[in-house]
Amino acid sequence: MIALSVARIAEIVGGELADISPDEAAARVVTGTVEFDSRAVTPGGLFLALPGARSDGHDFAAAAVEAGAAVVLAARPVGVPAIVVPPAPAADAEAGVLEHDADGSGAAVLAALARLAAAVAAELVAGGLTIIGVTGSSGKTSTKDLIAAVLRPLGEVVAPPGSFNNELGHPWTVLRATTDTDYLVLEMSARHPGNIAALAAIAPPSIAVVLNVGTAHLGEFGSREVIAETKSELVQAVRSSGVAILNVDDPMVAAMAGKTAARVVRVGQSAQADVRAVDVELDDLARPRFTLIAGGQQVAVRLAVHGEHQVGNALSATAVAIECGAGLAQVAAALATAGPESRRRMDVRTRADGVIVVNDAYNANPDSMRAGLQALAVLARASDRRSGKRRSWAVLGEMAELGEESITEHDRVGRLVVRLDISRLVVVGTGRPMSAMHHGAVMEGSWGSESTVVDDADAALELLRAELQPGDVVLVKASNSVGLGAVAEALLAEDGVES
Ligand SMILES: Nc1ncnc2c1ncn2[C@@H]1O[C@H](COP(=O)(O)OP(=O)(O)O)[C@@H](O)[C@H]1O
Ligand SMILES: [Mg+2]
Repeated sequence: MIALSVARIAEIVGGELADISPDEAAARVVTGTVEFDSRAVTPGGLFLALPGARSDGHDFAAAAVEAGAAVVLAARPVGVPAIVVPPAPAADAEAGVLEHDADGSGAAVLAALARLAAAVAAELVAGGLTIIGVTGSSGKTSTKDLIAAVLRPLGEVVAPPGSFNNELGHPWTVLRATTDTDYLVLEMSARHPGNIAALAAIAPPSIAVVLNVGTAHLGEFGSREVIAETKSELVQAVRSSGVAILNVDDPMVAAMAGKTAARVVRVGQSAQADVRAVDVELDDLARPRFTLIAGGQQVAVRLAVHGEHQVGNALSATAVAIECGAGLAQVAAALATAGPESRRRMDVRTRADGVIVVNDAYNANPDSMRAGLQALAVLARASDRRSGKRRSWAVLGEMAELGEESITEHDRVGRLVVRLDISRLVVVGTGRPMSAMHHGAVMEGSWGSESTVVDDADAALELLRAELQPGDVVLVKASNSVGLGAVAEALLAEDGVES
């Protein structure tokens, strides 16, 4: 974070000083990072006291100060120097991102964090910082990682680790930026209409990227139209001097051109794209290669990430880099080495026995399921040097939060597995959605053994251990809560990994 005195921070967030005198608060400067985990506190840092599932951050305030925190941002006095903010209205706590916030103390601390991040972002933008915001139903984290990779040759980049994209992770990331930062890349997610507008208000992007409008969290939103409206909050937040980068292969994203005051840059495989991919092919490991066309120039691009869906993500990253002054050859070079940075997203590894394990177990919705299964089909088509032909396994768990569409969407995935000629489907879990997936596969199939249902992740691992043969390719995918990431990791741990 940029250096600010405790007194100044109290003023920005509208908090009261506790256990620190006004003179001391004026003299004491926060120079370290902002942390919500007392074990991560750095000397001179600021500790956020937030309620959690098992414990309350307020109980760790003293430990954080002991570890070097200059001050604590809290909802009540904690016996060590603190800035105390009043509790938030119950409605804020209810709508907030924290699950264990009965008294609204977490919402209050997050609201204060938002005010602090907004003040810091405004100051850094005045000093020349460029803020890039990314949203979409699928691919935010993958694209955020690609954007960071293409911008790194141009200057200092701050981007969130993993999927830090909500009312906590977003301002936390903003406060990672310093006066040395040139580019701040932010992933923005929404559970409700208004969430993205709120995040964009904290750190207004001058470059906004919208990837797609899918069905993720359809249960929460009610309809795709509401999802589209919510994603469009990002481009509505960009000023006329900024840029909206829109994936025109998705009609609902293309339509957002009419909702922004900003200049629009279109990306995609369609002819109307300004930054376009043509002649897309996939190699044996489902890594795309294509000709990139932009600004009347073209260059050959090979991606280091897997699956055709990454083409659109890479085009969005390319458009960002071009806006920031990169040349096409420079972008192509950066994309060629930009691997998956965030765990459990299309992480493709080959064991010494030739078994390929695709760990895509971080999350799942109908669109990312399709993308993952298509990549599995491509991987299976590529012949193995030992067996000559690969058997393919889709080990799938529930896609959470689909609301009324859940049964239909799980049924569709089961059918798609068979249509893509995947050799074996392992349905993990016995709830109604998973039964629907199993039945979808059985109805679409012809010989009845297309699909096997197992109780849980452990049972899936046991089945795979017993039946995997050298050269098989396995996709492991579900919403994170199903715990399938551990299955992929256990399969890889059993055998030396080649790549
Ligand atoms: N453009 C895309 N379209 C469909 N699926 C995608 C796309 N980009 C990534 N995915 C898949 O979606 C899942 C989540 O990817 P991730 O980058 O973590 O997205 P998000 O941050 O939006 O949740 C992964 O399975 C990934 O392979
Ligand atoms: Mg994410």
